[in-house]
Amino acid sequence: MSALPGPRDSADRPRLDNLTLAHKEGFQRFAEAPDRIQPEPLTMNQLKALSDMARAAYDRKRRLWHANLGPLKTPQLASLHEDLWDIVDNNLQDGDKAKGAIALDAFPGLGKTTAVLSFVKQFHRREIAEEGRFTQDGHERWPVCRVGLTGNTGMKDFNRAMLAFFGHPGLERGTTTQIGDRALDCFLSCEVRLLVVDDLHFLRWKNRSATEISNHFKYIANEFPVTLLLVGVGLAERGLFGEVDNDGDEALAQTGRRTTALGLAPFLIANDAQRRDWRNTLLAIEKRLVLAAKYPGMLADELSDYLFARSTGHIGSLMTLINRGCQRAIRTGTELLTSDLLNQVKNDAAAESGRRQLETALAAKRLTTRPITRTGKPAKNKDRAVTA
Ligand SMILES: Nc1ncnc2c1ncn2[C@@H]1O[C@H](COP(=O)(O)OP(=O)(O)OP(=O)(O)O)[C@@H](O)[C@H]1O
Ligand SMILES: [Mg+2]
Repeated sequence: MSALPGPRDSADRPRLDNLTLAHKEGFQRFAEAPDRIQPEPLTMNQLKALSDMARAAYDRKRRLWHANLGPLKTPQLASLHEDLWDIVDNNLQDGDKAKGAIALDAFPGLGKTTAVLSFVKQFHRREIAEEGRFTQDGHERWPVCRVGLTGNTGMKDFNRAMLAFFGHPGLERGTTTQIGDRALDCFLSCEVRLLVVDDLHFLRWKNRSATEISNHFKYIANEFPVTLLLVGVGLAERGLFGEVDNDGDEALAQTGRRTTALGLAPFLIANDAQRRDWRNTLLAIEKRLVLAAKYPGMLADELSDYLFARSTGHIGSLMTLINRGCQRAIRTGTELLTSDLLNQVKNDAAAESGRRQLETALAAKRLTTRPITRTGKPAKNKDRAVTA
């Protein structure tokens, strides 16, 4: 084995993990990082002509690139962003009026975190560009505070996490309320406009009524001059917005009234418009793949039914499959995606269990993923692709 090389170029390293985003500096690195540059596509002959070292460097670039494909501007993401802009911009009004909250509630793997992070990235950049890095009082400006909850977080941990985002030293001392008050000070000085709480379902719900939790967020919505963006799975079912607890609970009703519920849907293939969305997404992914033997229509024509069945239309399962498939195609030298190659790639359990039924229906032509053209034939590779 050859000697290990020196430290890598920092631009080449994966930049993001959940811990990074828990602090303002990490968040800033994420939000202000330049877009990744797609490695130059090479033909099979050009690939073979590379020296071992050049080939290793090229493959490494491709590994990283394929592991970070996205975010794609899928129709679901685009329409969620429009809704978020509407609400957040409307909330930028002055005054002490309580701002409306947003609840993004959808099943796992539908791209909630990805869509929200890409939104807050744009929001952060816009606010800093327009308002400057510092407030009029000379404090750092942080338009967004993002808190990601992990298993079994309580109210106090939640308030601490807000404080930790700002690197505040006072997060170990005091009651839940005192810590909350310190967080409020940070929000006011840094002119935070948007508070994102991701994976809210991890909040410790047991032994706490929905009303108590709802009250906590009501307090934040009332006291903190921010738009609250709550992200999680099954939030409505947990009774956070009064949909479940209907026995005259006014606090819940109030939260429900002030909260706009948004969702993210999987890809569907029930009508032509939906099939076109699926196809455009595959075309957009295809464009981004850096495989020497890829060809137009590799995904959108040849693998459309296959990929739908294996992902059950969930973007998370689709991207995992594509990413793992690309890694394998590079490693094994096939340099293209086929159903044979993808059959060897494992996917998440939920997608695998939904797969059989869909495969049977697609094989029996009871379902199709292809938009039908005017000639009655499945569409070919001429549709507009989703742009990044
Ligand atoms: N628009 C997109 N473009 C490209 N990849 C995406 C997109 N949306 C989601 N993904 C990929 O799908 C995977 C799951 O997405 P994400 O983590 O955002 O889902 P989630 O809804 O937040 O899931 P969970 O409820 O488990 O937190 C990620 O690996 C992500 O890279
Ligand atoms: Mg998530």
